[in-house]
Amino acid sequence: MSIRPATITPYPDGPLLVRGDVELFTVEGEPIPLRRRTSALCRCGLSAIKPFCDGTHKAAGFRTEGR
Ligand code: FES
Repeated sequence: MSIRPATITPYPDGPLLVRGDVELFTVEGEPIPLRRRTSALCRCGLSAIKPFCDGTHKAAGFRTEGR
């Protein structure tokens, strides 16, 4: 059995895609349930379901640097 580390991939003009076995917590230390093995975390700051991405970045025209 191989154990692969969790990965975080910044999606161009979009969220951070988190894959693998991770745990997510609020700043108060409360666990945030993950719905899937791959989660999209908002980095535009506009999602209504933070910390998860709800797709609002597209309508807002969010752009990442370096592109
Ligand atoms: S990155 Fe998708 S809503 Fe913020």
